[in-house]
Amino acid sequence: MLIEVRPYGEADQDGVLDLWSEVFPDSPLWNNPLDDIRRKLGCQPEGFLVAFVNGEVAGTSMAGFDGHRGWIYYVGVLPKFRRLGLGTALMRRAEEYLTTAGCPKLNLQVRMGNTDAVAFYESLGYHVEERISMGKLLWPT
Ligand SMILES: CC(C)(COP(=O)(O)OP(=O)(O)OC[C@H]1O[C@@H](n2cnc3c(N)ncnc32)[C@H](O)[C@@H]1OP(=O)(O)O)[C@@H](O)C(=O)NCCC(=O)NCCS
Repeated sequence: MLIEVRPYGEADQDGVLDLWSEVFPDSPLWNNPLDDIRRKLGCQPEGFLVAFVNGEVAGTSMAGFDGHRGWIYYVGVLPKFRRLGLGTALMRRAEEYLTTAGCPKLNLQVRMGNTDAVAFYESLGYHVEERISMGKLLWPT
C-alpha cells in the first residue's frame, strides 16, 4: 500500500469533492465545497493537504496561520482507509507546515458528540480546552 501526503493539486478536485460528500455529509450550507477550495487556493494553498492510497484520494486537511494561531479544517479520511495512520500523517504534515510558517499553536473545533474525532486528536497530543465556540456569517449564503 503506497501512502502519500502532498498539497492539493487541480487534478485532485473530483476526488476531494467525492471524499467530502461522503465524510462530511452534513456540512452547513455556507461550506460550499467548490467555493471552499477556490478560497483556499487564494490563501496559503500549501496548507491544503491531500492523502493518497495507491494514487486514490483518501483523506484531506486544510490548515492556515492567521498570524496568531493556526486553524485546521476538513480533516477527514475515507472510511475504508481509516485506522491506517492517514489522519495522523495529515495532521503531522499540517503541524510541520504551520511550525515552519512561525505559528506557535494550532487550534481546532470538533462538533459536540464527535467522540471518535476527540479520541483521534487526543492521540496526537491535543487537549479539550474550556471555550465556547462562536461564529457569525459575514456573507449572505
Ligand atoms: C478522525 C479521522 C480523521 C481519523 O483518521 P484515521 O486515518 O482513521 O486516524 P489514524 O489512523 O491516524 O488514527 C490515529 C489514532 O487516533 C485514534 N483514533 C482514530 N480513530 C479513532 C476512533 N474512531 N475511535 C477511537 N480512537 C480513534 C487511535 O488512537 C488511532 O491509533 P490506533 O489506530 O493505533 O488505535 C477519521 O476517523 C475521520 O475521517 N472521521 C470522520 C470525519 C471527522 O470527524 N473528522 C474530524 C473533524 S473535527
